[in-house]
Amino acid sequence: MNTLVRFERDRDVAVISIDNPPVNALSPGVVEGLKGAIEGANADAEARAIVVIGSGRTFIAGADVHEFQKPTSGEYVANIRACLAAIENSAKAVVMAIHGAALGGGLETAMAGHYRLIAPSAQVGQPEVKLGLIPGAGGTQRLPRQAGVAKAVEMCAFGAPIKAQDALAAGIVDRIVDGDLRAGAVAFAREVADKPIRRTSDRQIANADPAIFSAARDQARKKWRGQTAPLAAIDAVEAAAKLVFAEGLKREAELFDECLRSQQSKALIYAFFAERAVTKIPGISSSTPTYDIARAAIVGAGTMGGGIAMAFVNAGIPVLIKETSQEALDRGMANIRRNYARLRPETAEQKLAMITPQLTFDGVDQADIIIEAVFENLAAKQQVFHEIDVIAKPGCVLATNTSSLDIDQIASVTARPEMVIGLHFFSPANIMRLIEIVRGGATRPEVTATALALAKRLGKIGVIAGNCPGFIGNRMINVYGREAQFLLEEGASVEDVNQALFDFGMAMGPLAMFDLVGNDVMRDIAAISGPAAARNPLVLPRLCALGRLGQKTGKGWSQYDENRKPSPDPEVAALIENTARAAGIQRRVISKEEIVDRCILALVNEGTRILEEGMALRASDIDVIYLTGYGFPAWRGGPMFYAKRESP
Ligand code: COA
Repeated sequence: MNTLVRFERDRDVAVISIDNPPVNALSPGVVEGLKGAIEGANADAEARAIVVIGSGRTFIAGADVHEFQKPTSGEYVANIRACLAAIENSAKAVVMAIHGAALGGGLETAMAGHYRLIAPSAQVGQPEVKLGLIPGAGGTQRLPRQAGVAKAVEMCAFGAPIKAQDALAAGIVDRIVDGDLRAGAVAFAREVADKPIRRTSDRQIANADPAIFSAARDQARKKWRGQTAPLAAIDAVEAAAKLVFAEGLKREAELFDECLRSQQSKALIYAFFAERAVTKIPGISSSTPTYDIARAAIVGAGTMGGGIAMAFVNAGIPVLIKETSQEALDRGMANIRRNYARLRPETAEQKLAMITPQLTFDGVDQADIIIEAVFENLAAKQQVFHEIDVIAKPGCVLATNTSSLDIDQIASVTARPEMVIGLHFFSPANIMRLIEIVRGGATRPEVTATALALAKRLGKIGVIAGNCPGFIGNRMINVYGREAQFLLEEGASVEDVNQALFDFGMAMGPLAMFDLVGNDVMRDIAAISGPAAARNPLVLPRLCALGRLGQKTGKGWSQYDENRKPSPDPEVAALIENTARAAGIQRRVISKEEIVDRCILALVNEGTRILEEGMALRASDIDVIYLTGYGFPAWRGGPMFYAKRESP
């Protein structure tokens, strides 16, 4: 008997349990085992009905995504479809018992059953779009038959899972079971054993309003700019509304195959595993001890300090914020309050109650981690570390939120450099998922392990970066920004450069990014991260000298109205042209392709150097940094993956 799928009988009910840790993915043995068990239960004269349940922490988290990367993927998916057909065609009622999550192929399996029960804390969803795919085993055909077209479009095209209550209200599950799910499912199976079998595929879809599909397409084009899978998912659900079940399945299969063959799904699947690879670090394992983080202190209530405080509070960790002046403290707290204004008042109050603003170091000696978030200046940061070293309790992690400075120089002013680590949060820190974790020469593995665990607890992705100027992200953004500026000097307009990279899929163009972050900040990053170079951008220092710092001053590379909407600024165009001519730079027409290639290849080249120097553990870590911190389009996999892509 297959060890991944267990078959037992509880008197007159067959109980089939999937046991494929960690998440009961539908790996090859599971698929065949489940089909065999359903057939076995049908052949078992003693069994009147069948329960399918997951062992361990979850029902079925989906198809085994590794299988999609193999040349045998077509056969694999065909086997899943055959398994689900066997479930749906079972002559004995099949009751699916869902705990944890039924995602992707997991929900498709559940929907092939005749009844679905769910634990109150469980979730269901069709997240395939996040992998550049659509449900390929009947999900786009069965879900609209159970939940209606609008809900099916929403779930298949946007991928967010829904909770048990919503699933019940939508008609995806029949009952929520409090308490023992298996016992509840067995009892339920006895209740329905003698009823006529009801198959989802027999259900009709009532006339679907075409506006649902057009509205979803508009929304998908905005939310998933450049991506094909969400539109394919909408097409597939639309097919369910127009075709009989068998024809709809065929259409779904065609659309699924197109998605599976696409470069986009290859990139997104790569990104899925890349995100999970970041925690695999030589010398650190799940047995490396970590420090308990129950209380945090943050030095500095500026944009970063405030954002970091909110990130901690969101994870349920109380924080103390220390500032040097009442004015700065009040400003910081006002920012936090403004941010919380969109919450329900009682939630906002609860969160605020977890933040203690103060001008002294009182209580900092109780903190398990202290995060310095003062402005980006080595002497200022060293001063803070000198102060906190005196106060912090033994075993307290001392973190700096520097974006580019040398961790060892910061650690050197303390008597415990082994407790010091860089945690480079990205702004706004309560929202952005990336943290670059930067180890100094002396940092203890336990401190690194604590930082990784903390990142996960904060709902973020912690990526290890080497201690070099600019670390990984800013070191790369610096060469990218330089290239964008060289293109301007050589004849491209600010709008050309921004548009070309936006169309490539970046969240915003490079000069729009400069204006958002602040040209003075970008200038400082360049000064720290930039290698000595034969050619340096000429216009940025002039913009800074003119006070054109970006959105914050209403003018930068573009000019901004009161809603921060940009428009071209002829003064900047003239400044660029005059500066370039004075420097003897030949100006010419520059194509969109050249703009994209030069900027993106600058990233790739610097990424390669970073890898060669050992400043990143693996190429995919660089990609995760670019996908989660710098607005690189996920469906291109990140700069390093993009460089190695198959030619289209
Ligand atoms: N196929 C293959 N492996 C999977 C997987 C899948 N569908 N889902 C998760 N895994 C693996 C992860 O790669 C990870 O492996 P690792 O420990 O070697 O790094 C392990 O299972 C645990 O996953 P992780 O995401 O770290 O656990 P979590 O508890 O944070 O989240 C899930 C669990 C199920 C919510 C999350 O893994 C998930 O969303 N999975 C994908 C679901 C999906 O897209 N399904 C549709 C596929 S068609």
